Amino acid sequence: MNRSSNSGPSVQVTTDSGTSLDAFARDVDRGLSAAQKHIPCVYFYDYPGSQIFERICRLPEYYLTKAETEILQANSGEICSSLPENVLLVELGSGSCFKTQVIIAELLKHQAHVAYSPIDISKQMLEESSNSLQERFDSLEVVPVVAEYTEGLHQLRTRPEQAKLILWLGSSIGNLTHAEATRFLEKIVKVLSAQDQFLIGFDLQKDRRTLEEAYNDSQGVTAEFNRNLLSRINRELGGKFDLSRFEHSAVYNEEHSRIEMYLISTCEQEAYIARLDRAYRFHKDERIHTENSTKYALDAIQDMADQAGLQICRQWFDSRRYFSLTLFYIAEY
Ligand code: AVI
Repeated sequence: MNRSSNSGPSVQVTTDSGTSLDAFARDVDRGLSAAQKHIPCVYFYDYPGSQIFERICRLPEYYLTKAETEILQANSGEICSSLPENVLLVELGSGSCFKTQVIIAELLKHQAHVAYSPIDISKQMLEESSNSLQERFDSLEVVPVVAEYTEGLHQLRTRPEQAKLILWLGSSIGNLTHAEATRFLEKIVKVLSAQDQFLIGFDLQKDRRTLEEAYNDSQGVTAEFNRNLLSRINRELGGKFDLSRFEHSAVYNEEHSRIEMYLISTCEQEAYIARLDRAYRFHKDERIHTENSTKYALDAIQDMADQAGLQICRQWFDSRRYFSLTLFYIAEY
């Protein structure tokens, strides 16, 4: 591991679309001016936010990572068994790439060389994880791309002759609305060919208590993750948010089958943002909506696949049926 090395990355990050400060400022202004204040959840994942998220994944209450890792470890042989030779692995929102190592190790049992293209919005996170993967796997070719999912799609058009396995793990799909997720899947279907496969992690519906504990952990790491949005505004946009005046809240909305995360103003207050040269007022108990995390029923997965033109090929579950990994093909009509 050379996470603390100063010598710079050995794996070259190919493009850096980064999130521009102008786009961030515009989205914050729009979100904090709306009747229901909100900040898009994509802004969680600067480098500090990505690191806090890695700590969330190790929390006892955050069952998602454990359940998905259990599925990968028990079924990677089967997941990889139907893949053609010399497959290109593409991962959307790769983060630390921790779980992907199970798939990479399995592929390397059967092929001498594996090409892996992680797509993530944190450049530093990508560099660190790519370097550490490269150190662990000699015959792995890592082609990291700094981009949001939608921009990263062009990566799927590269190497058209090579079959692809696209990974979208961690139930990140759940952070999109149903309409956004379906639209995004449709776009992916357009760039896939018949030989490609798509593996998606879905967090499943379960009891309210387990869900709310996972997003209101006892060590307060999720609260830190949520407040990092305000710290990021302070750091990057010259914001003057007092973090101690916002409380973290995560509640399960049964009607929409999703955890909703909020930052709640504990008092009447105003926060100035220098880059926007504007102050935003908050009433006591006013909420800023920061994230939705959808919990899926199996028929909702099927509906989304039908709408997007995907066909379910196989579905795996952990021992508690908390989580599912679903493998899709392009549907043939
Ligand atoms: C990345 N995403 C799937 C996480 C989730 O569970 O929705 C983000 C997260 N938010 C709070 N804890 C974790």
